[in-house]
Amino acid sequence: MAKQHYLNLSSQGLALKALFTGYLTVVAVGYLMALVQIQLTHGMADGEWGLSIDDIVYSYYGNRSGSLLENKLHGSMKPMASDEEREQIIEWVHQGADAELYFDLGIDEIVETKCIACHNAASGMPIPDFTNLANLQKAAEIDTGATINTLARVSHIHLFGIAFIFMFVGLIFSLASGVPRKLKAIVIVMPYVFLLIDISAWWLTRLNPNFAWLVMLGGTAMALSFAFMWVVSMYEMWILPRLREDTRDALLDE
Ligand code: HEC
Repeated sequence: MAKQHYLNLSSQGLALKALFTGYLTVVAVGYLMALVQIQLTHGMADGEWGLSIDDIVYSYYGNRSGSLLENKLHGSMKPMASDEEREQIIEWVHQGADAELYFDLGIDEIVETKCIACHNAASGMPIPDFTNLANLQKAAEIDTGATINTLARVSHIHLFGIAFIFMFVGLIFSLASGVPRKLKAIVIVMPYVFLLIDISAWWLTRLNPNFAWLVMLGGTAMALSFAFMWVVSMYEMWILPRLREDTRDALLDE
């Protein structure tokens, strides 16, 4: 007997559920990787594990009590050289990051052996090339956080990329039948609102460190709505059909 077809996640066929599940799984792994990456770059900005308000301030506003070079040597670049070597580099920064002293103090050898392996033009990584002393000296200037250039680049990538991800996550979730329609609309629109808040907050934090908490709020709200849509969609595809038949139409405002 042909079963009636209802417009909800629960009563879709195996093919569509497989497609949705494959997509949701890969996007969730991508999300986890993004969190790891945030930990590794921003999370270590203050030299301690875990993302804090200070990390966000240092990343966007800068740590204006010191240079980027110094801050990185206390933060994510800490494991790259011994304590003694890091102190020598910092000492050189405090003495004005002068070209002559660079060779006299033996900083050239430390950089050569401990930094150049990654910080070279051929590495393919978007990091400064320290085979050119001018780039190292630039990093030794007072840290004023993210440049407009970096912010513009990262902002547009995030806006396009994340909007695209939430388009499909939201589309799948819109077929969930068990969520009250108002809550559903809110959960679907929340990532977009908070994406705009998050990205605006990067720019605002660059101007004023008090906005750093808005970055936290934006990111957290986005992650929560993602998790909610993910769990509900998976539940309605794979667990709900085992419990009972779902005859509701998820696309109608009933
Ligand atoms: C294993 C590869 C590797 C080594 C070795 C390494 N770095 Fe880095 N460095 C990176 C990566 C990746 C980034 C970008 C992520 C970040 O900022 O933490 C970076 C970023 C930096 C930055 C910030 C650049 C910017 O414009 O944001 C500075 C300054 C820096 N490193 C200094 C050093 C110094 C000094 C050394 C040697 C003691 C060193 N690094 C060794 C990989 C490396």
